[in-house]
Amino acid sequence: MLEVKELKKSFGKKEVVKNVSFTIEKGEAFGLLGPNGAGKSTTISMICGLVSADQGDVLVANQSVKASPIEIKKKIGVVPQEIALYPTMSARDNLLFWGKMYGLTGTKAKKRVEEVLDIVGLKDREKDRVETFSGGMKRRINIGAALMHEPELLIMDEPTVGIDPQSRNHILETVKSLNEKGMTIIYTSHYMEEVEFLCTRVGIIDHGEVIAIGTKSELCSRIAGSSFVEVMVETCSSEALEAMKQVENVKQVVFKEESGTIEVYTQSPQEVLGSIITTAVNEGLKVEAVEIKESNLETLFLQLTGRSLRD
Ligand SMILES: Nc1ncnc2c1ncn2[C@@H]1O[C@H](COP(=O)(O)OP(=O)(O)OP(=O)(O)O)[C@@H](O)[C@H]1O
Ligand SMILES: [Mg+2]
Repeated sequence: MLEVKELKKSFGKKEVVKNVSFTIEKGEAFGLLGPNGAGKSTTISMICGLVSADQGDVLVANQSVKASPIEIKKKIGVVPQEIALYPTMSARDNLLFWGKMYGLTGTKAKKRVEEVLDIVGLKDREKDRVETFSGGMKRRINIGAALMHEPELLIMDEPTVGIDPQSRNHILETVKSLNEKGMTIIYTSHYMEEVEFLCTRVGIIDHGEVIAIGTKSELCSRIAGSSFVEVMVETCSSEALEAMKQVENVKQVVFKEESGTIEVYTQSPQEVLGSIITTAVNEGLKVEAVEIKESNLETLFLQLTGRSLRD
């Protein structure tokens, strides 16, 4: 369905997409997971032809974005990170507008509006102006706009940022069901849970580079240890972290300031638990709680970069 080949993009002197390549099969749900500023939106803009790449190419169903931009745009639905709707128009008129942009008019367009309102669950609000909608509802209509022309490939750029949990769940369920019905999906996020829920394959992007790619199980098998020790502390020091890193069989130690936790990565959490606590206490840390936790894609990101996805 999609082949992204060695894409590069600089803004001024800053190279924001360095060498991004990946392929997506028809029917897949592919997650692009990365922190703020990683280059997700820029990559997506190059895929849809909204931003021209300095180097590389994008093939959608074997057609190059450069050679046939119009045909490709018909195959792709894009849900941009920023809401792109007319606030003073009703939900229904917004959908009709976006349908028209893709050449959809008359009874065909009206029928599709009904279907799309049903998909995004906003039939009861169709006549209301978009400006009266909650953030989550605006997001849902934004998704609807991208669905009007029944694209084969739906590209979503962080569609759940800053919305209420109810709308978030609705969106996740909608995307899952679209994918189950055969739509190919690209979903960018810095929420590991969303990507784990929706996507069969994941690319982890950081500083404009794909640093890991594969199915969830392939990626998780790269993690040193299937679990890690989480130590909750009141304060922390670099000396204490260094001392904990020296404990036998410990691979990596990361302090997460926002949660006040130290994460200790090792192949054998049960065995090192005692030494970790002793070391922490000897270094003057006040240990409040200790837990052994399952590894996940966030863990992999931490191990690869030493940073958290949401730093
Ligand atoms: N039009 C532009 N002009 C200059 N710099 C830009 C432009 N667009 C993006 N950048 C820079 O490129 C880098 C990557 O931005 P991008 O929006 O692709 O990241 P992102 O992964 O989508 O991040 P976020 O999760 O915050 O949306 C950032 O450093 C950003 O400041
Ligand atoms: Mg972005």
